Amino acid sequence: MPEGERRSPRMTTIRIAPSVLSADFGYLAEQIAVVERAGADLLHLDIMDGHFVPNLSLGVPVVASIRRHTGMFLDAHLMITDPGRYAPAFVKAGADSITFHIEVAERPRELIKQIRDLGVKVGVSLNPGTPAERIFDILDLVDLVLVMTVWPGFGGQEFMRECLPKIEAIAARLNANQWLQVDGGVDNKTAPLVVAAGADTLVAGSAIFGHADPGSAVVELRRAAQASTRSGTETRL
Ligand code: DX5
Ligand code: ZN
Repeated sequence: MPEGERRSPRMTTIRIAPSVLSADFGYLAEQIAVVERAGADLLHLDIMDGHFVPNLSLGVPVVASIRRHTGMFLDAHLMITDPGRYAPAFVKAGADSITFHIEVAERPRELIKQIRDLGVKVGVSLNPGTPAERIFDILDLVDLVLVMTVWPGFGGQEFMRECLPKIEAIAARLNANQWLQVDGGVDNKTAPLVVAAGADTLVAGSAIFGHADPGSAVVELRRAAQASTRSGTETRL
């Protein structure tokens, strides 16, 4: 890849992706409208099967309902054992991207092609215990990488700093059009760390929907993250 196409911290556009897992599901459409008005860039939808992770969350009908209430980009994070089986249903329900976990993909290249043929962006995710090298040979085939900085399954867990080198290693291999998402324990304190490591898309559940004003939380998180890109620019010049 020519050097000019590599991602540059100076050109990083930060995307904020509220995770509805921490929203009040009784007022989901309203909560989504609040973060959309506040400028959130995409909506992160955590899909769990009680098998790959020890929890259940939302499924296809909820994604379809969300689709009817927002024009936001819907980013489906499939924490499920058989993503290939369910990806078509989530795309039909309105998902704009499908992210699968590398830990469950027996044939990742075939799975990526299957998802891409559905007409959506394709993402690959890694658990905290999975090394970056595990996805190096498929990096050029995906639109986004989702690095978990907690063990998946639950919101509100503490950010795992030991995952920062993995973010750096993956960031160094992505081109400027690929998104590098970080998910788990992202808040105003940890956002600058992950952005400095090369992340451009911040998934945040409790930091946004656990805030008294989720709209302000989106703005504050973006400000915290952008402060890091500015200082990154200064230190590199
Ligand atoms: C966890 C999910 C996350 C979760 C993050 O398994 O993948 O998207 O919502 O929640 P916080 O931001 O509270 O760590
Ligand atoms: Zn997630």
